[in-house]
Amino acid sequence: MQSDIARVLIDRAAIAKRVEELGRLITADIARDGGNGPAEITLVPILTGSIVFVADLVRHLPIMAQIRLISVSSYPGAATASKDAHIREDLDTLPRSLRGAHVLVIDDILDSGRTLRLVTDLIREKEPATLRTCVLLRKRRPEAMEFSVDYTGFDIPDEFVVGFGLDYNDYYRNLPDIVTLRPEAIRRGLAQDHAKPGGAA
Ligand code: IMP
Ligand code: MG
Repeated sequence: MQSDIARVLIDRAAIAKRVEELGRLITADIARDGGNGPAEITLVPILTGSIVFVADLVRHLPIMAQIRLISVSSYPGAATASKDAHIREDLDTLPRSLRGAHVLVIDDILDSGRTLRLVTDLIREKEPATLRTCVLLRKRRPEAMEFSVDYTGFDIPDEFVVGFGLDYNDYYRNLPDIVTLRPEAIRRGLAQDHAKPGGAA
């Protein structure tokens, strides 16, 4: 696995520092929303890519927090360009109504913006008090930069990256740094891809 890495784009220390900062920003905003009442947040992590990020982020949110998972498929198998996004109803743990809730949708990366648009449209129908979005990474491409996201960890070049939750063909999520892959690893992934149905983003 280590030999598949071409370049480390963001190392674990830089990620840890930024995640802590994001936690502080989010906590301050939610405290303000709560007014005099207790601050409470409903986190909606998008499976599977956000799991590592959200696991670290929640430990920097010293407020009442619920976690409601949602799953969106967008990169089936060994694809490195975003395809049609759709919500997987079998993995949707959102309550019917979010009235009064301060919701924060969390994803690993903002690429075409299709995934976040899909999820925020769905959540908006559940009438939360506030709805914000947070991504660890945002690609420097027009579609991503135009999407208005409330918290961004890092802006990165428009390259395919893995690690810290992000996958290629469902592998490499366990790498502690954000990295690019060598062309051989990408080719191997394409050859191994048995077009698993419904892989989760
Ligand atoms: P979007 O819907 O095009 O914004 O894509 C977002 C989803 O695609 C994310 O939730 C990721 O799972 C996946 N994705 C986008 N870019 C990358 C990448 O560079 N590496 C791994 N996954 C990616
Ligand atoms: Mg993915």
